[in-house]
Amino acid sequence: MMPPAMSATPLIQALAAALDSRAALLQQLHAEQTDAYRLFHGSVEGLPGLTVDRYGELLLVQTFHQPLSPAQLAALEDFYAQTQPGLLPLYNDRSAAHSRIGNPLPPQQLAQAMESRTVRELGVNYRIQGRHEGQDPWLFLDLRAGRRRVMREAKDKSLLNLFAYTCGVGIAAAHAGARHVVNVDFAASSLAVGKENARLNDLPFRPRFIQSDVFSALRQLAGLGQAKMVRGKRMPPFPPLEARSFDMVFLDPPRYAKSPFGVVDLINDYPALFKPALLCTAPGGTLICCNNAAEVHRDAWLDQLERSARKVDRPIREMEWIAPEADFPSHDDQPPLKMALLRV
Ligand SMILES: C[S@@+](CC[C@H](N)C(=O)[O-])C[C@H]1O[C@@H](n2cnc3c(N)ncnc32)[C@H](O)[C@@H]1O
Repeated sequence: MMPPAMSATPLIQALAAALDSRAALLQQLHAEQTDAYRLFHGSVEGLPGLTVDRYGELLLVQTFHQPLSPAQLAALEDFYAQTQPGLLPLYNDRSAAHSRIGNPLPPQQLAQAMESRTVRELGVNYRIQGRHEGQDPWLFLDLRAGRRRVMREAKDKSLLNLFAYTCGVGIAAAHAGARHVVNVDFAASSLAVGKENARLNDLPFRPRFIQSDVFSALRQLAGLGQAKMVRGKRMPPFPPLEARSFDMVFLDPPRYAKSPFGVVDLINDYPALFKPALLCTAPGGTLICCNNAAEVHRDAWLDQLERSARKVDRPIREMEWIAPEADFPSHDDQPPLKMALLRV
């Protein structure tokens, strides 16, 4: 349980302060046709491990360190019923190992939680679901700043979206006038949501959805061919891809993941992904790299990117940080999610 000292009153005070600080942002987001945003970011707003997000008609409350007591949950729901009326509350306690959702729900509430819903962000429709076989509700809200930037730049461009998950970045680009979009992820279930996202929007063309290991796709797109054997093991067959480069590449890997082709490791080996992604970015193009490992300091990471770029003879010409928006405040302007826009 949350510490007893965190009785309902200080909890409500923290929620109220967070809501006050978002008044201008929420007004802006509503005007921009956005109804998905974070209302409370506990790690910075007084209660580490508690987040409250609005996903359209859903109010998603999540705990990552300790569960809320029934009294705390009731007070929280009551606060939002008064200040954000009409939202359907859903509590996912993810304080158990591997952030799995632990709290069972009565059948009727579970059915509501498992309903697919549509949210809007910057005029784009996305599918979300409060509960399903996975853990997150299909749209990462802190990445809005990245999607917004891609939408600003995408007109008439080709875009490669790596570790695409439910393809939010690719759908945003296609909606904003990109010429061609390729989404790559090895999870068929995530790409299925991506296809649904494409259907939800009146896109001028159909983006591509490639179910593949990113290492395999990048090798082929960079013209290095398909590795059939790695460390003496036969590799699973992934779709053959022609070598080609893209005006924009979006690289947003998970913190750590193993695959037959290699290890995604944002702390110890970002260059293993960065270098081939750079080779798939057209000269004069833009590569947006993300790193959400909090322990990686952004200056050290940028230094590593600059060295890796020089090694493959594609030096970074310009760089700019994309900061998460004001619903994801951070300590000392050092957000865990770092997004570097590189002109290469
Ligand atoms: C944190 S999500 C990425 C979020 C995404 N960029 C977005 O816009 O929401 C990580 C994704 O990486 C995928 N993934 C992990 N390792 C992979 C690999 N080696 N090849 C392809 N996809 C991989 C997972 O299936 C998952 O969908």
